[in-house]
Amino acid sequence: MRIVLLGAPGSGKGTQAARLKAELGIAHISTGDLLRAAVKAGTPSGLRAKAVMEAGQLVSDEIVLAILEERLAQPDTHGGFILDGYPRNLAQADALDRLLKRIGQPLDAVLKLNVPDADILKRTEIRFKAEGRADDNPETVRRRLEVYAQQTAPVADYYAQRGLLGEVNGVGAIDEIAARLLAALDTRPATPA
Ligand code: AP5
Repeated sequence: MRIVLLGAPGSGKGTQAARLKAELGIAHISTGDLLRAAVKAGTPSGLRAKAVMEAGQLVSDEIVLAILEERLAQPDTHGGFILDGYPRNLAQADALDRLLKRIGQPLDAVLKLNVPDADILKRTEIRFKAEGRADDNPETVRRRLEVYAQQTAPVADYYAQRGLLGEVNGVGAIDEIAARLLAALDTRPATPA
């Protein structure tokens, strides 16, 4: 199964993608994790991405697509995957469509986690104190939420128009949310409109 997980920063995409990976036995691909690994390794893409990520802005479509394409070429993705953090704007949604057509792996479902901004600010504040992730300081989280509203929110409509979108309440216990996501996958239409 090939799934895109949408949701605002801190909505639980990474947490729930790990659950879906365990439940469905498919690969978890987080563009944020791939970019953080590139930053840590000091690759040319990582060096270009670092300041952009710390400012809460989006890394260039070109860099992220190249990183994603490389990841999708790895054999563990051939049995299915969950994309977490991609696409983040309409140009990326189009690029993903073309890439998946080319490799013969179209999407089966797009699930969106809905979480109010107030919960997101609380969650990221807790993580900032515990882990010190650079872009979790409250000011940068607000910027990330603005970028999400302006650039990423329209991606949900893009998939709704293709009959692929399911929306799930992302507030509550992690187990409950995982069960909601699995239920949304079970009840999705067999063939997208
Ligand atoms: P990325 O790493 O993708 O970050 P994000 O989307 O901002 O999301 P987060 O990782 O903060 O949150 P999440 O939704 O995965 O939630 P999580 O499970 O971690 O991107 C970082 C940056 O990289 C971007 O800003 C951008 O610069 C760049 N980037 C990445 N992809 C890109 C792309 N495609 N194009 C361009 N740039 C890109 O949970 C958050 C916290 O809440 C955790 O501490 C967790 O333990 C906790 N939590 C989870 N579930 C619950 C729950 N139910 N109740 C309470 N707490 C919970």
